[in-house]
Order: sequence, then C-alpha cells, then structure tokens
Amino acid sequence: MNFKGRDVISIEDFSREEIDYILKNSESMESIALKGSKILEGKILATMFFEPSTRTRLSFEAAMLKLGGSTIGFADADITSVRKGENLSDTIRTIENYADIIALRHPLEGSAKLAAEFSRVPILNAGSGADEHPTQAFMDLYTIKKEKGKIDGLKIALVGDLRYGRTVHSLAYALSLYNIELYLISPESLRMRKEVFRSIKDRISIIQDENLEKVIPQIDVLYITRIQKERFPDPTEYYKMKGVYKIDLNTLKTGKNDLIILHPLPRIDEISSEVDYTPQAKYFQQVWNGIVVRMALLSLVLAT
Ligand code: CP
Repeated sequence: MNFKGRDVISIEDFSREEIDYILKNSESMESIALKGSKILEGKILATMFFEPSTRTRLSFEAAMLKLGGSTIGFADADITSVRKGENLSDTIRTIENYADIIALRHPLEGSAKLAAEFSRVPILNAGSGADEHPTQAFMDLYTIKKEKGKIDGLKIALVGDLRYGRTVHSLAYALSLYNIELYLISPESLRMRKEVFRSIKDRISIIQDENLEKVIPQIDVLYITRIQKERFPDPTEYYKMKGVYKIDLNTLKTGKNDLIILHPLPRIDEISSEVDYTPQAKYFQQVWNGIVVRMALLSLVLAT
C-alpha cells in the first residue's frame, strides 16, 4: 500500500484496508518510539497552528523527532505575517519551501483542503474548525484495537457535543467502516451533524439517545467529548449545555467490567478525576497512542 506524498484531509478519503494498514504500521512504531530512529533524518515537519493545541502539535513534533527528523512551526498565528494580513494560501506557498510536510490546524472548515490545493508538500489536517480531525480518529481507532483486541463486534458510544466536536465526526466516519453498533448520545441541540449522519447511516446500526445512563450497561467503549465552548455562536447556549454529561464512579458501577473510557482531551468537567485511577480510564494511554499513530503517518507519507 502506497501513501507516499498523500494528504491526510478527511478520514473519509481512506478505505477500511488503508486504515487497518495504518493501525498495523502504528503497532510497529511502539518499539521505535521508545528507542528512536533515523528513518526521517533530513526531513522537516512544519506545524502551523492557528488554534490552541497541546496534544496534537506536540505529539506531531515528538513523532517527527523520534523518527530522526526536525520540526519548525508556530503555535500562535499572531506572531506571524498573518497578523499583517497574509492569507492562508500565501502562507502555505511560503512554508512549503521550508518543510517536507505540513501539519495544519485552522478554525475554518475546509482550510486543510484549501491548503492541500496550494501546497507542493503533503498536508496533514490537524483539525479543521468543527469539521474533522482525522489523525485523532486514527489514534482513537488504534486505542480501541489495542485495548479491546478488535473493533468489529463492539458497541461504541460517542457522547457529548456531537455537533461541534470534530473528533467525533472523523471517528464516526471511520467506525462506519467496521461492523459495530454505534450509540450517539447527546442533547437534542448537539446531535451528530446531518452530513455525517447521512453518510454513515446505511453502513452501520445507529442508536440515537439523550440518556447516557440507559445505554451504559450495554456498551464496550464510551468516548466522551467536552462541550466545544469556542464553537457556540451564542455563549448562553453553551452555559445551558455545560456539564450535561458527567462520568463518575457511580456511572462506572452500572457499566461492564471491561468497559473502556476514551476522551480526545482536553477534559473540562465530563469525567470526574476519581475515574482516572480506574482500569476503565484509557484517555491518557490514548495520548501515548497519538505519538505512535502520528509516527506511522509521517513515515508512510514521507516514505523515502
Ligand atoms: N485532542 C486534541 O486535539 O487535543 P489538542 O487540542 O490539545 O491538540
């Protein structure tokens, strides 16, 4: 399978076979992540982050360094010439001269696609507005596979802000390629985006509900997201939704013993800190998995 030079814009651009290949490749990065390598020596990753990030930017950078490559970039567009009015396409046509690959996070939907149209070097979508976060979906799938030994046959709940949460959009697209039961748990006003729902509804069995307690006993994987405050056009609507779902030790009592809890992070108040010390909590393991998955993506796209 050849990924050389390929952009990673939407998870919808990947077949199940390609996703499985990337997950397999990520597995082989586990030992390389511990000892380091020179696979990408001489290559440069540029991280262009127009929105805040802790995990995505730093894990892309760590992944590149662990493969022997180098990184350049910015985490605050206000200290770049964007501040002087430079547009995204000119910024991309500049940075492609300095780097072999670009990881881009931008508040506008369609930004990664637009960047890829201008760029001579591959673009990795590190989050495009409320639309998609495909590399997060690869690490979410990898975490499920690693923890449960499989993806097919599982009952998986996506919980919280399914309207504005980009990670759940990419993950829902990807999960629809597997033989799973998908539970979409959210308040009515934060239901899964129509275009995502329409795209996946004929491929898998979907149960939509507002009531998390009702579904907890049935599920194998609980993937909860924060309510995306920064995407709400009206802040009062955010405050109505804030704290709508909360996982605590009582919640876990009604779930299966081998239920796993995932969260793309950052967490606000969706998971009580006492849950962090239970065997069900896998969200910090998910963070590590972000490194190996991004190592796999970088090495496949930059294959020498
Ligand atoms: N999961 C995720 O995208 O985290 P950051 O916003 O910290 O990159």
